[in-house]
Amino acid sequence: MEEKPDDVPLPPKLRCESARCGPVGIIYNIKKSAVKSEVPDMDAEYDNIETVHAIRGALEAAGYDTILLEADATLPETLARTRISIAFNIAEGLRGRGREAEVPALCNLYDIPFTGSDEVALGISLDKAMCKRLISTYGVRTPHFALLTTASDAEGATLRFPVIVKPNAEGSSKGVSEHCVVNSREELREAVENGINAYGGAMLAEEYISGREFTVGMLGNGSDTRIFPPMEIIFRKNTQKDYRVYSYQVKQDYKQYIDYKSPADITPETCEEMKNAAKTVFDALGCQDFARADFRMNDDGEIYFIEINPLPGLAPGYSDFPMLAQFAGVPYSELVPAILYAAETRLGIANHCGVSAK
Ligand SMILES: Nc1ncnc2c1ncn2[C@@H]1O[C@H](COP(=O)(O)OP(=O)(O)OP(=O)(O)O)[C@@H](O)[C@H]1O
Ligand SMILES: [Mg+2]
Repeated sequence: MEEKPDDVPLPPKLRCESARCGPVGIIYNIKKSAVKSEVPDMDAEYDNIETVHAIRGALEAAGYDTILLEADATLPETLARTRISIAFNIAEGLRGRGREAEVPALCNLYDIPFTGSDEVALGISLDKAMCKRLISTYGVRTPHFALLTTASDAEGATLRFPVIVKPNAEGSSKGVSEHCVVNSREELREAVENGINAYGGAMLAEEYISGREFTVGMLGNGSDTRIFPPMEIIFRKNTQKDYRVYSYQVKQDYKQYIDYKSPADITPETCEEMKNAAKTVFDALGCQDFARADFRMNDDGEIYFIEINPLPGLAPGYSDFPMLAQFAGVPYSELVPAILYAAETRLGIANHCGVSAK
């Protein structure tokens, strides 16, 4: 877990002395275990209430007052009558390809400052094909892909097999497993059909990059962005048969299947390349405050950008972003206030700012 301090120091812990302002509103969507679905990972992207409580605990320990706001259909009304100084947004949103944009857009409507990326960055990143088209114009290497809206589109796809098929606009590995890696046009057709039936929306067929997997965390903005050293997701021998996919099931049982290592065992050049690519994508999308970018390496050591998560999971002891921070010497209790502090600094409302104190 040891890591030498990175070039950009973490901001000092904010302890606001003023009681003029409203509390921090933690805005979230939680899993609805009562709603049963035939698709096991249907609510994979939503948070457990324990994560919301962990964020609240970290903010309150740092001196903030907080209130909890669920991002359901009552949120507009709640925001209209509740005074909060800033929203700590972890809400994944409810419906549609732009669902992660729901809360930032609403906050903008009510002129409420919020942590994290805005509706445009969240909307683009959630549409994987759109994001890949955009970032390839910045020279970031990403696997060849085709966006397929019907199974018959598989006929025209000019991709080199094996190909991985995943929902174009999902996260948390929803709909992604080793069974999504296909080796023929017929299998591609079938995988697209199954994916559309289960998840709706278009499917992204992407050339499968067979080698090692890494993820890179970013915290802050502009030249003050701290980039955590890449973490390797090391698949143990027992993980899967032919293809190594960091699937929802593997994530659920990560203690059985995965070893995490940061800093990853890579050359300084590869490390720099990955950090630069992550930051290029972060800037290209106009991301704010924090994000996590995923990469794979091919057998020739070339790095491929897979996707960026500007709303990465914050479940302590489970999500990759807090793990990356922990490896870099930033415990959860500091990471959560540091995200808020990054937003306050970006907004010019830090010290003091509009955040209530105890
Ligand atoms: N082109 C690819 N080549 C090899 N493996 C891939 C590729 N695309 C996805 N994967 C595997 O599938 C996993 C999930 O894919 P991806 O990160 O695109 O989905 P996600 O649902 O957005 O995940 P997250 O939980 O990070 O939000 C990756 O971590 C990787 O293991
Ligand atoms: Mg991913």
